[in-house]
Amino acid sequence: METISTIYKAQLSDKDFSALAEIITRETGIKMPVAKKVMLQARLKKRLTALNLTSFSDYTRHVVSKEGFAVELIHMIDAVSTNKTDFFREPIHFDVLTDVVLPQFVKGNSDQPVRIWSAGCSSGEEPYNIAMVVDNFLKKGYPNDFLVRASDISTAVLQMGINAIYSDKRIAPVPKYYLHKYFMRSRDKSKNLYKVVPEIRKKVQFSRINFMDATFKVPERFDVIFCRNVLIYFDRPTQKAVILKLLRHLKPGGFLFIGHSESLIDMNLPLASIRPTVFRKLE
Ligand SMILES: C[S@@+](CC[C@H](N)C(=O)[O-])C[C@H]1O[C@@H](n2cnc3c(N)ncnc32)[C@H](O)[C@@H]1O
Repeated sequence: METISTIYKAQLSDKDFSALAEIITRETGIKMPVAKKVMLQARLKKRLTALNLTSFSDYTRHVVSKEGFAVELIHMIDAVSTNKTDFFREPIHFDVLTDVVLPQFVKGNSDQPVRIWSAGCSSGEEPYNIAMVVDNFLKKGYPNDFLVRASDISTAVLQMGINAIYSDKRIAPVPKYYLHKYFMRSRDKSKNLYKVVPEIRKKVQFSRINFMDATFKVPERFDVIFCRNVLIYFDRPTQKAVILKLLRHLKPGGFLFIGHSESLIDMNLPLASIRPTVFRKLE
């Protein structure tokens, strides 16, 4: 009891915040201005509990130590990453996908699977959403197969994506048509849980990729990349570096979607804007 109340009262000093913020930005690219101190303190308290530590100075010492760093970094990233997401987030993008993008890849290319990457996929809503929309489009008469690769830095959200189980609140934005076609309700109706159908689950492959890595371990080149609501957490030079690395995996003529609050203005990239926040890679 005493330990829990001590942890509850634990305060993150400016010095420890700077040390942790420096590691987080270096390892993830996520900007850590002083304004994030309260958030960091709140989110890391469960790590103090898990490690049986009573102060942030002990926690910081643990993180900067060689052994501590190796095991704690992944937990710290899980705790600090902002994973807000939704099914049918920025729904106009799914209209652009079906009306403009997919028709480009199915014309006379029936033996080619359509390859899409949800980069920064959080807990799976975005990649499953893409898979449902693409499946529904192709079933209208195109023989093409498709695959969706889903990646994130946070192992906690990747596991949620692999589980593919969502509460009734999470599936609220899903139109009835998609809900009936692509979700199974849990047998125990009191739980109000929905699982993505196996047909869609098997099209989505999850893996951990950190955008700060020099190269990304993705075997394919993609027709479409979604990298939405991730760049906002990085500074401008980091945003540009991440986009350039993503573009190595986008085929010429392929499409890139970013979030509506993000911009690639003045980055001088080999992209043409086809809609606000939708770009086509130059041939
Ligand atoms: C706000 S969510 C966006 C999810 C989804 N794309 C959407 O628009 O709904 C941002 C995601 O980016 C991930 N992320 C942050 N930094 C990253 C990095 N360095 N490498 C890979 N993913 C990162 C976070 O873990 C988080 O799941």
